Amino acid sequence: MKKVGVAILGLGVVGGGTYKILTDNKEYFKKTQELELTVESVLEKNIERALSLGVNENIIAKNIEEVVSNPQVDIVVEVMGGTTFAKDFVLKALKCGKTVVTSNKELFAKHWPELEKVAKKANAGLFYEATCVGGVPIIRVLHESMQANKLLSIKGIINGTTNYILTKMANEGTSYEEALKEAQKLGYAEFNPTADVEGFDATYKISILSSLAFNTKVGIDNIYRQGITKLTKEDFLYAKQLGYTIKLLAIGKNTNNGIEVRVHPTCVANDNPLSTVSDSFNAVHLVGDSVGEIMLYGRGAGALPTGSAIVSDVIFAAKHPEFYYTTFKNTEDGVAETKYVSDFSSQYFVRLTVEDSVGVLSKIAQAFAKANVGIKQVKQSASVDGKAPVVIITHECYESAINKAISKLKKLDASITIDGIMYLED
Ligand code: HSE
Repeated sequence: MKKVGVAILGLGVVGGGTYKILTDNKEYFKKTQELELTVESVLEKNIERALSLGVNENIIAKNIEEVVSNPQVDIVVEVMGGTTFAKDFVLKALKCGKTVVTSNKELFAKHWPELEKVAKKANAGLFYEATCVGGVPIIRVLHESMQANKLLSIKGIINGTTNYILTKMANEGTSYEEALKEAQKLGYAEFNPTADVEGFDATYKISILSSLAFNTKVGIDNIYRQGITKLTKEDFLYAKQLGYTIKLLAIGKNTNNGIEVRVHPTCVANDNPLSTVSDSFNAVHLVGDSVGEIMLYGRGAGALPTGSAIVSDVIFAAKHPEFYYTTFKNTEDGVAETKYVSDFSSQYFVRLTVEDSVGVLSKIAQAFAKANVGIKQVKQSASVDGKAPVVIITHECYESAINKAISKLKKLDASITIDGIMYLED
C-alpha cells in the first residue's frame, strides 16, 4: 500500500477539520483508496489548540524549515490564510518538491502565476479545490468534466456569510446592521467583515473560477466589485413585491465581445434556482455549449465541508504527485492579453420616488426611451403625502445606456428622486 505523509500548516477551523477527516477516516482511505495517509507534521503556534485536537506533541514543528525538510512529508496542506507567511511557506514547500494543497483563495487569486511557475519548475503538485465554494467540488468539475464544452457562463452565490445576511434581510425584514450582528454572533462573519461584505472574498473566488472556465487568467483588477453594505430594508421590500429576492452574485460571461466578470448585489427572480439558495449555502450555475445548464449546490465553508475538499485534493495528489495542470497560459502576460467587455449589458431594477402628478411617468418613460433602454415592467405603489414609490424593471441594455437614462432622469426636475439601481437576473 502506498504510504503518503501529510503536513498541515495552520490548525484553525479548516486545518482542524482536515486533521479530523485524515485521522478519523484513515482506515477507510486504506480500504477505498489503497493509500495510507498519515499526518506527519503540523505547524501551529497555539499548542493547546493542537493538543486539544488530539495531535501528538512530537509532530508539532517549530518552524517551516522543519516541515519542508522532513522526508516523511510528501504533501503540505496550507490552511493558514493571508498572503505573507502563507506565500512564503507555500513557495518554500514547492521549492523542496513537496506537493501543496491549499484553501487560500486570496493567495491564489493574487499570486497564481508565480506559484504555478515554481511548482512546474520543481515538478511539484499544486492543488486548490478548497479555494472556491468550500465542499462543493467545482474546480475538478471545471478541470476534468467540462472539456467538451466552451463555457458560456459561470454564475453563483459563492460567499456564505453574505448569503446568510441577505437571507435574513429578505425573510425577516431586518436591516443590514442587524443581520450582520447576527452573522457575527453565529460565527459566520468575522469581527472585521470587510472581506466578505465588500465582495473581496467572492472576487478572489470568481477570479479563479472564471480563469478555469474561460481558459485565461482573469485578474482581480478586471473584475467589477460591489458589496452588500448599502442594501436597505426597502430594497428587499420592493424586490419582493415584484417577485425577486436579492443575492450577492458572482457572474462570469464569455461573450463574442470578450469576457465580463463581476460581483454585485443582484435582484434574482423567484423562479431562478439561485434565488432558493439560502442561509450560508453556496451554489454555482454553469452553462456549457454542449451540456447546457449544470448547477452545483452545497456548503461553501466550515471545518468539515472545506476539509472534505482539502482531503479529496490530498488523495488526488497522492495519486498524481507531479505537476498536473493548468489548461491555459497562466502568466501575468496572460492577464494582459485577455479581452474584456468594456460596456456590459444587464437588466436593471430602478427604484424611484416620484411626485404623484399628471405626466410624471410619461417623462420617465421618455428619458428611458431617449437612452435606448426598454422598460419591461413598471409598478407604482400608493402615494403618501403626494409622493409615490415607483419601480422600473428594464429589458437587457448596455450599462452606458442605463447610465444615460439615469442622468436624464436626474436632469428632469425635483419631482423624481432616484432611490436605488440594481442589476437584475431573471
Ligand atoms: N468567508 C467565506 C464565506 C468562507 O463566507 O463564504 C469560505 O471562503
